[in-house]
Amino acid sequence: MKTIHSFLDMKQKHEKIVMLTAYDFPSGRFVEAAKADIILVGDSLGMVVLGYDDTLQVTMQDMISHTQAVRRGAKEAFIVADMPFQSYHISIEESKRNALQLIVQGKANAVKLEGGSENRLNTIREIVDCEIPVVAHLGLTPQSIHALGGYVVQGKKKNDYEKIFKQAVDVEKAGAFMLVLEGIPELLGSEISKELKIPTIGIGAGRYTDGQVLVYHDVLGAYDFKPKFVKHYLNSKEIIPQALQTFAKEVKSGEFPQPEHIYYPIKDEEK
Ligand code: KIV
Repeated sequence: MKTIHSFLDMKQKHEKIVMLTAYDFPSGRFVEAAKADIILVGDSLGMVVLGYDDTLQVTMQDMISHTQAVRRGAKEAFIVADMPFQSYHISIEESKRNALQLIVQGKANAVKLEGGSENRLNTIREIVDCEIPVVAHLGLTPQSIHALGGYVVQGKKKNDYEKIFKQAVDVEKAGAFMLVLEGIPELLGSEISKELKIPTIGIGAGRYTDGQVLVYHDVLGAYDFKPKFVKHYLNSKEIIPQALQTFAKEVKSGEFPQPEHIYYPIKDEEK
């Protein structure tokens, strides 16, 4: 099994790190079988699995039960669980308790949380102090959509660029062992990745981050959603309904089940 040290080694050896999201037992199995270096149980769960419009509705209970299911499917994987909105915003005590639950009940190896404000740096320090590895997440942080005014690329203006760069340096100092960079210009992704010792994982952050992450359903082309940074490797939004329609047609026509699908089929002469 990989550890936090494996990822530092990979960065030092210029070996790209592969992170993919998973949300349940089957996706955990598939992503582990694909030999991803890290499985992220993302709070994108809210959108791609639970059908919400954003990630803000996701609860601790959702995150715990989905992380448990991913762990049952991916026994050897290094699993990072997202801390959902509200779970680390009220008090340090509550943030630590919630992070501990994701590790103890969810059986994750690390937690991820968004933002790089002074308060957030303190939260990172306190969670790391509980012996819990923390992944930071900067740039377009989906839990802040209302504060950011929508899903818009961050760091385009000079002061915003500098702010994100500084936050990246700060989250490393606060003890994060990895940083997810989302929705930023390639140059910013590259400069942060050069500056930090900890590995950076990009999603819409260009080519020069130390690794890449995409959402499981986006890789599999499950929805029409296709922002610039997404590549569909399968067209599951067409081939899954096609397979299900074929099943339905075969049931209607009597083509399914065939003798090979039947226990002790009635022989023709017994009919
Ligand atoms: O929730 C998620 O899937 C994420 C990735 C997009 C990085 O945070």
